[in-house]
Amino acid sequence: MNVGGTLIAGPAASGLIGTVSVPGDKSMSHRAVMLAALADGTTEIHGFLPGEDCLATAEMFVQMGVSIDWLNDEKTSLRVHGVGLHGLKKPANILDAGNSGTCVRLMMGVFAGQDFDVTVTGDASLQVRPMKRVADPVRTMGARVVGDGDLLPLTIQGGQLKAIYHASKVASAQVKSCVLLAALFAEGETTVSEPRPTRDHTERMLPLFGQPVTVDEEGLVHLKAVGKLIAPSEPIYIPADPSSATFFAVAASLVKGSDITLERIGMNPLRNGWKRILADMNGTMDLQNEALVGEESVADIHVTYQGLKGVQVNPADVPDAIDEFPVLFAAAALAEGEFVLSEAEELRVKESDRIAVMAAALQVAGANFTEKPDGAIIVGGELQGGCTVDACGDHRIAMAMAVAAQCAASDITIENSAAIATSFPDFVPLAQSLGMNVRWSEK
Ligand code: S3P
Repeated sequence: MNVGGTLIAGPAASGLIGTVSVPGDKSMSHRAVMLAALADGTTEIHGFLPGEDCLATAEMFVQMGVSIDWLNDEKTSLRVHGVGLHGLKKPANILDAGNSGTCVRLMMGVFAGQDFDVTVTGDASLQVRPMKRVADPVRTMGARVVGDGDLLPLTIQGGQLKAIYHASKVASAQVKSCVLLAALFAEGETTVSEPRPTRDHTERMLPLFGQPVTVDEEGLVHLKAVGKLIAPSEPIYIPADPSSATFFAVAASLVKGSDITLERIGMNPLRNGWKRILADMNGTMDLQNEALVGEESVADIHVTYQGLKGVQVNPADVPDAIDEFPVLFAAAALAEGEFVLSEAEELRVKESDRIAVMAAALQVAGANFTEKPDGAIIVGGELQGGCTVDACGDHRIAMAMAVAAQCAASDITIENSAAIATSFPDFVPLAQSLGMNVRWSEK
């Protein structure tokens, strides 16, 4: 667990007001640096998320001989000197994915195609997260994966891979992307099916590097390797992360008098579940300055206060909102009526068990939260606060509880919040700039 770091958040003095740019999309930042490192030529990336998760991915490639020039001190712009699909070098040490499931699961696809073996590990949270879902398909493709119970640390011995048809049992973009990355090294056409469609950033980004990917009418994803990736001549611009924007969109929907604008947020429909759910809950958002950036669309989201109501979440929306449920639970605890979530058992294997950890934190703060094995029933009302809760080293729990506290009667102390740095290092100053009552404890 990413321990330490205590946030103190309390009732907002007045409505949130202002315009902010949240950092770059985490999913796309990982993918951009991966494809750039495996390409022939140099790729320039702007809008990169300088959070610990994406920096772990960049560092893995540095350990395997890729050189990266950071173009600014904030580490949001970089130039990656790709070494080609077969140019990586055996790292001298064990590679460390830190807290990042996306890093390790996607990189398993890359390691599977190498002619050297790699050992990869992660922090205490990542060491208990399921890896069998990616170990199994890369084994079927021809790699050897060795590790106790298929948990990290794992050693991957790459080899000559063959194409497969992989029917994923879980709706997971990480699994799909792992298989597609391994397919770059395989002979023949690889096909992936998933129980529900998941974020398609890998499918959208690969063609920018000259590698076609097709999705048929049944939603099956096909990739037949062309044998190399070519660095795009134009820079890659990464939109702002909708998963980070949601914290402020929910806070503005809850705090009376709020009127905020979130700039250039990624509008990928497979990431938009939170917007549909928040709109169903009565959230008032309108889109401005819609534009296309590469293969992804962006827009400014203008959010104004409107009291929220509980809803029954459509299970079809779950994969499209999978990272946003902690803050949607906070919204539900302060909404009018009942909020019901089902078919979301995946939340139990994220950076923490997000159903259990949010239930514990919101219950201590005064919420009526009932856990279900695959979701939650939350009856909205008031939060007393005046308590200490444990974010359990999960970035999204820490930020969700900071949002909940904006409408509590008194302060909430949120322990083990340091992991905010994995995805949203500037959360606290940006939240403060909008008028949120949140600060790091000096103790
Ligand atoms: C991600 C996929 C999702 C998501 C994670 C990022 C990705 O995980 O929760 O934060 O970038 O592919 P799963 O694939 O495990 O659902």
